[in-house]
Amino acid sequence: MNASHPVPAPQRLEDYRPYPFAIKEVRLDVTLDPQASRVRADLDLTRQHDGDLVLDIGKAVTLDRLAVDGSDLDAADWTRKGETLTIHRALPQSFTLSSEVTIDPAANTTCEGLYLSGGIFCTQCEAEGFRHITPYPDRPDVMAPFKVTIHSDLPVLLSNGNPVAQAPGRAEWSDPWPKPPYLFALVAGDLRAISDTFTTMSGREVDLNVWVRPGDEDRAGYAMDSLIRAMRWDERVYGREYDLDVFNIVAVDDFNMGAMENKGLNIFNSKLVLASPETATDGDYERIESVIAHEYFHNWTGNRITCRDWFQLCLKEGLTVFRDQQFTSDMRSAAVKRIDDVVTLRARQFREDQGPLAHPVRPDSYVEINNFYTATVYEKGAEVIGMLKRLVGDEGYAKALDLYFERHDGDAATIEDWLKVFEDATGRDLAQFKRWYTDAGTPIVTMKEDWDAEHGVLTLSFSQQTPSTPGQTDKPPRVIPMAVGLISPNGDEVLPTQMLEIDQAEQSFRFDGLATRPMVSALRDFSAPVVLRRELTDADRAFLFAHDRDPFARWEAGRDLARATLLAMLDGGAPGPEYLAAIGRVLADRDADPAFLALCLRLPSAEELAQARSEAGHTPDPDAIHAVREELASVIARTHQAELDRVLTDTVPAGDYSPDAGQAGLRALRLAALGLVTRIDGGARAQAIYDGATNMTERAGALAALIAAGAGQDAVADFHDRFKDVRLVVDMWFMLQAANARPDRAVPLARELAAHPDFDWKNPNRFRALIGGLSANHAGFHAADGSGYDFLADWLLRVDAVNPQIAARMSGAFETWARYDETRKAHAKAALDRILATPDLSRNLAEMAGRIRG
Ligand code: ARG
Ligand code: ZN
Repeated sequence: MNASHPVPAPQRLEDYRPYPFAIKEVRLDVTLDPQASRVRADLDLTRQHDGDLVLDIGKAVTLDRLAVDGSDLDAADWTRKGETLTIHRALPQSFTLSSEVTIDPAANTTCEGLYLSGGIFCTQCEAEGFRHITPYPDRPDVMAPFKVTIHSDLPVLLSNGNPVAQAPGRAEWSDPWPKPPYLFALVAGDLRAISDTFTTMSGREVDLNVWVRPGDEDRAGYAMDSLIRAMRWDERVYGREYDLDVFNIVAVDDFNMGAMENKGLNIFNSKLVLASPETATDGDYERIESVIAHEYFHNWTGNRITCRDWFQLCLKEGLTVFRDQQFTSDMRSAAVKRIDDVVTLRARQFREDQGPLAHPVRPDSYVEINNFYTATVYEKGAEVIGMLKRLVGDEGYAKALDLYFERHDGDAATIEDWLKVFEDATGRDLAQFKRWYTDAGTPIVTMKEDWDAEHGVLTLSFSQQTPSTPGQTDKPPRVIPMAVGLISPNGDEVLPTQMLEIDQAEQSFRFDGLATRPMVSALRDFSAPVVLRRELTDADRAFLFAHDRDPFARWEAGRDLARATLLAMLDGGAPGPEYLAAIGRVLADRDADPAFLALCLRLPSAEELAQARSEAGHTPDPDAIHAVREELASVIARTHQAELDRVLTDTVPAGDYSPDAGQAGLRALRLAALGLVTRIDGGARAQAIYDGATNMTERAGALAALIAAGAGQDAVADFHDRFKDVRLVVDMWFMLQAANARPDRAVPLARELAAHPDFDWKNPNRFRALIGGLSANHAGFHAADGSGYDFLADWLLRVDAVNPQIAARMSGAFETWARYDETRKAHAKAALDRILATPDLSRNLAEMAGRIRG
């Protein structure tokens, strides 16, 4: 770590202490004004334990008054230091603490606390934003019912819970369910709703509203439809019913992340609400459906049962991601969803585990909690629950979840509580399983086969080993559910899926009574988040790709074949016949789900190849990786030109556009084929699809293909022209260019785009579109001259001064720097040092740059 910029001391799990006071009720009275909003808070406190009364308070909050039971405190009664406010006066057992503060939402550019987005007042309090609104014990284990009064002339005034009274200039809300402060929300503005109702399983009517800016109403329908399906699903699958009279969703344009589950008042990034066929892709629709569900599901997993402290973040996020994944599997194709999730997990979480930011699913220390909303906490957190479910079975899982809701409703709980309900419901000891929560790193599992032909016995031997991660060197063996099946040489399944439990460093399993040597299908359904190493020939992979009954394992065999092909090309080899023949069979397959075939056609990403190279002890060369991917794509296109053309004509869905999985699958296959043929036709077919497009999926897909082929000039201009007034599509315009530009063009183009009048960098979506787009352009960002690193550092420093969360999040692009060659490393190190040497860096960016730099 750079000594010139000390990062504040970390918070530690082991230091957890309960708060000395309980809050019986919170009454807030908020008078909105852009520059000077006034907030009065009355907290009914009762002492529970010894200790001072300490409140959190944001630095920009002006404290106008403090009183206990109505009598004002004077300056000697309290001290304010940093972000804390300590009251020294002797206090009765129970009392009301009143505070009055003034805050300036218009000056708040952080998208945290109370801020303005396009004239709409809105809030974001997770994780520690409530302290920027009022002094409060801003920690999730202090739960209380809230009553909120809002004064404002704006037409729509919303807060959590149920509406109590609405009069011109004033609204009262009451939330009867005790909640932690991070779930507080308030919205005020000129908003329009699309509305519906939902009758819960016990017969209660709930009013549903999706609030958007005037003019956006016609793009909110899919969000509402998704909400209703999510509510129904949670009743049917988890027995969870909604618990208020209204459920409000608000879309805002300036938002640091996807969305937020505030009780009864979810606030969303407008990108995850607004969609029409002309402006949103199939992928956007699917994300809207899943994030609407995710935030809704938090009502039980997160809100009714919350986290004791922020170390337990995965308690709500891992579980809620797991639930939204189940929901999407039920709404769409389970096989395709599983593969998509694994692709994302490997690209983001395996990468995290491999680098300087590796941390356990339940971290035991942090400097800035906002830096721990990570792929490890979310996606690996969900995988860990999937493993639990595999180990205890569907019935055990259902029993454990029922017990969880029954035992912990109203609690701020821990991972220990969570594991205990599984132990109590199923009788299983989970002490070893707990390592999945406490130990960082992706286990590497090696599988060896021994075939005894004389006795017809196959022995599978597994060994497991987890590489060291920052601060953790000793990694004892974990419990790994390993789903395997056996396939006979004629392609029949001789042994259906078995769940082997690997719980030792080395372990063998015997299968006897086999007539011929079977092919082993391993890690079916990606039964554990591990790297599986085994020795296979291309012919073996092609066999599994042709015959495996498990869709994930089948896809994986094809992926493995593609990966092996590309890695061999990096060593100077040529694409082998097995892979090209396998692709031929994919293109000729008229029975399989087109969405599945599209996944089979897609080449492993540059990031995945870089990861594989560095895992195997090589230094990845981004330019070489780019070149072999291009080369393989053109070889495929040349080999299978006729079939690709047939796919392009056979995959036009009949009828009007619908974002359902069936149509989306056809379009995905079409675009996968287009991506390949564009390598050899100079962009002619992509241009034709672009020109004839009737929906954004095809238009954006064709544009991406054209840009990647270096042939997108006209289409890029046309796209901007058509959509210059649709903010979310302008984001797409920035992103598509930065992400798909040819490597040598990427940074110069990003610089030009940063100077474009539409590059409103203070808007998080716009910033992410350009800066995140470039970071996703592997060879472009990792330009050998370091220009990508410099560009990123410049922009991180600039945005850090206005929005530290965005700066910290985007700095993750540096996390892989140490993988590359000396020249690149020197450039990256210099960029990181430059960041760390900057005065007044935010705690967010300082922690990230420091950990990444090492
Ligand atoms: N709880 C939200 C969700 O996952 C995300 C909040 C992220 N907050 C943050 N400060 N990073 O649904
Ligand atoms: Zn969440």
